[in-house]
Amino acid sequence: MAIVINGAEYPLPDDPRVSLLDLLRERLGLTGTKLGCNQGGCGACTVIVDGARVLSCLTLAVQADGREVRTIEGLAAENGGLHPLQQAFIDHEGFQCGYCTPGQICSAVAMVAELRRGDPSYVTVDLAEGLKEPTRQELRERMSGNLCRCGAHNGIVDAIEEMLIGGTA
Ligand code: FES
Ligand code: FES
Repeated sequence: MAIVINGAEYPLPDDPRVSLLDLLRERLGLTGTKLGCNQGGCGACTVIVDGARVLSCLTLAVQADGREVRTIEGLAAENGGLHPLQQAFIDHEGFQCGYCTPGQICSAVAMVAELRRGDPSYVTVDLAEGLKEPTRQELRERMSGNLCRCGAHNGIVDAIEEMLIGGTA
């Protein structure tokens, strides 16, 4: 049993009760992923598994057996440069304390793939129109599982819009 995290293979814990979040933070020292509520309500622990965003606090590590996990540590370019969305967060003041930021960024990166697939959201008005230019309402709805207690949501949406316009996700 093994799990690929940011391109490197790791053994899964012997204890099947260990969450993916605890594996990342407590056992592997990948503390970029944050522990917020630990019950699925805040999105701070969001990581990307096989291209889809998941809440690592509600996911057992064994569920990631044989799958590819990307965390915030794995989003940067190979030369160490910031992911374009990380830079956009800086440019648009998309964070204050920064605690929610890794989850916001992982969520947004995977969310763009949902948009490009044409997956509808609760506020999608016309599915036939497609979702090539999602409104801010769409982005807010799709990011509604990621809470920012500092209230940086406007900057976060600005940053995601910039990433979408640049097509860099
Ligand atoms: S820590 Fe996982 S959703 Fe809050
Ligand atoms: S930047 Fe502080 S919780 Fe989001």
